[in-house]
Amino acid sequence: MHDDIEAVLLSEAAIHRRLDELARRITADYDDGQPLSVVALLNGSIPFLADLLRRIPLPLRVESLRVSSYQGRASRGTVRFHEPALPEVCGRRVLLVDDILDTGETLRAVQERFTAEAGASDLRTCVLLRKERQIPPRAQADYVAFSIPDRFVVGYGLDCDGLYRNLPYIGVLREERAP
Ligand code: XMP
Repeated sequence: MHDDIEAVLLSEAAIHRRLDELARRITADYDDGQPLSVVALLNGSIPFLADLLRRIPLPLRVESLRVSSYQGRASRGTVRFHEPALPEVCGRRVLLVDDILDTGETLRAVQERFTAEAGASDLRTCVLLRKERQIPPRAQADYVAFSIPDRFVVGYGLDCDGLYRNLPYIGVLREERAP
């Protein structure tokens, strides 16, 4: 285990087992011969996206959108879209994929923009993690791999100031390693 990690919350094996189940469900739900457009919210969803997609044997397209709302440990509360345009998904079924649903501000802002501008025929969301918070999140996800306690986690795509994304597991970051 990395020295900066207090505890491993989800091991690599546990993540992969759960992705097998989640991918089976998504495959069954979309299995009607029509293509699916998966839109990944970068950068946090990269490992999740790569592992999930390879388990879904459907015709699908992959798009991405770079958004951020978190700096270090504290949510900034505003969502920044790094590119002006959304991916081209007019008339297509869209599955948004993100790493974590925390306050829900990010997913809500993205859902609102897609609804207003993208013209998708269907819009659903899939997250790797959902934090169990006292205050309900501002958005819901249709597919959730894991619910986790309200702790700051890193690894498997999740970062603290850009670091730790390459850990193969999800762990709680030691307090003293926070920026
Ligand atoms: P919101 O609050 O908008 O947050 O649902 C979503 C984005 O915030 C980041 N985030 C975290 N990143 N560990 C992280 O490394 C965490 O515990 C955490 N909580 C939120 C993440 O980028 C996500 O897309």
